[in-house]
Amino acid sequence: MLVDTHAHLQDEAFNDIKAVLSRAFDNGVEKIFCIGYDYESSVTAVNLAGKHREIFAVIGVHPHDAKELDDEMLAKLYDLGKKPKVVAIGEIGLDYYRNLSPKEVQRKAFQEQLKLAKELNKPVVIHDRDAHQEVMEILKAEKGGLNGGIMHCYSGHLPLAVELMKMGFYISFAGPVTFKNAKKAHEVAAKIPLERLLVETDCPYLTPEPFRGKINEPANVLFIAEKIAELRKKTTQEIAYHTTLNAHRVYNLKF
Ligand code: NI
Repeated sequence: MLVDTHAHLQDEAFNDIKAVLSRAFDNGVEKIFCIGYDYESSVTAVNLAGKHREIFAVIGVHPHDAKELDDEMLAKLYDLGKKPKVVAIGEIGLDYYRNLSPKEVQRKAFQEQLKLAKELNKPVVIHDRDAHQEVMEILKAEKGGLNGGIMHCYSGHLPLAVELMKMGFYISFAGPVTFKNAKKAHEVAAKIPLERLLVETDCPYLTPEPFRGKINEPANVLFIAEKIAELRKKTTQEIAYHTTLNAHRVYNLKF
């Protein structure tokens, strides 16, 4: 059994959701966490979770859309966070690669949503692109009362992963870990404790080998698990077992 801890099933690429779920199931994927990136997509995530047993919702505003987050939207997210099958707040964080919202606006939205997660007593799913140091500073400032969470599509080095794990975070790998030249991701995926490892697709983006160039979907999380098994000299079953257990732990789900 596998879990895709990070998928954007709201995307129009997935309008035949039943076929997507059935292909996922054929590859052993039994739970999928649908991640919001703005208010609308968060509502859609909650609706999809309501309709499909395998889907759970994560709600929040992505750093790209941070400029949209105001007090009214925060209040609406708080209410949405109380709905059934909403398991975490995300994806939230900082993206200094594309900078689609000004940096100070991103920082404020990140802090406010960390506070929201504390109020709702939920873990967080963090997006960090080219902002390792500032993500860390904000997490340290806000760590009191945080319920841990996931560093999604991890791109940092090993010492940073160690620091994050000490703060209760799990480290999740997506398609890039299957790329030949991803030496840093290979090292971290091989060396962190199995108890902190997660797999995800971030679909429809970040398609893994051998399907690079095509639209990504939850079924492909199998190829991430296979690659990590190869890196750690374990069986895919062992990686599936641990990452599934970890996904249940971080999202506070019962089996
Ligand atoms: Ni994502």
